[in-house]
Amino acid sequence: MDLLSLKQQAAEFAVGMVRSGMVVGLGHGSTAIFAVRELAALLRAGALTGITGIPCSTTVESEAHALGIPLTSLEENAIIDLTIDGADEVALDSFTVIKGGGGALLREKIVAQASRREIIVVDDSKLSPALGTRHAVPVEVATFGWGAQARFLEHLGASIHLRQDDHGEPFLSDQGNLILDCDFGPIADPAALAARLDARAGILEHGLFIALVTDIVIADERGVRHLRR
Ligand code: A5P
Repeated sequence: MDLLSLKQQAAEFAVGMVRSGMVVGLGHGSTAIFAVRELAALLRAGALTGITGIPCSTTVESEAHALGIPLTSLEENAIIDLTIDGADEVALDSFTVIKGGGGALLREKIVAQASRREIIVVDDSKLSPALGTRHAVPVEVATFGWGAQARFLEHLGASIHLRQDDHGEPFLSDQGNLILDCDFGPIADPAALAARLDARAGILEHGLFIALVTDIVIADERGVRHLRR
């Protein structure tokens, strides 16, 4: 089965946990978008009613709007019932993940921390024995003084790559910040690294999601598995 079909299966399985009337966090990326589309289809069919969505990026906001999903904000609804989002790398034993491959990590983490349930949907290629093995950690930094953050991150042991857009220009997040993709290799203690990054001025957010994920849905050739923390 191809990767896209696996992503779709995981995302649509997670939509099965949505109930009418819920506020739903709409994740960013090629997996989470299947959940957005399925949600829209169920709303159109009348199988779900009273759903409002909080998008994790301007891209998802546009797509959800075009699909007719009513949108709300964290100002109107401080608590999200359930969020469905993808991930770049997943450590099943600790329920920790790396996110931000799509550049939406800051909004994704704001949405995740406001969510009663953060449901991560992935195909099994995302599974890893230790975070950092398969994917760099995206770190969102302020444009002012970003070189100092790059040196700090190198000092912590990372190889740094300043993310670029399709035109070869520095990629800017929805908030207008830069992203440094930081290859740490396998990370022995993701929570300790996250704490170092959290404490640094100029680092606005990082893609290590620690103690935020409640559910992981994994699709592979044999079917879909749902794990709960
Ligand atoms: C977006 O910033 C990311 O966190 C995505 O959730 C992550 O990159 C997974 O994306 P795919 O589902 O496209 O692999």
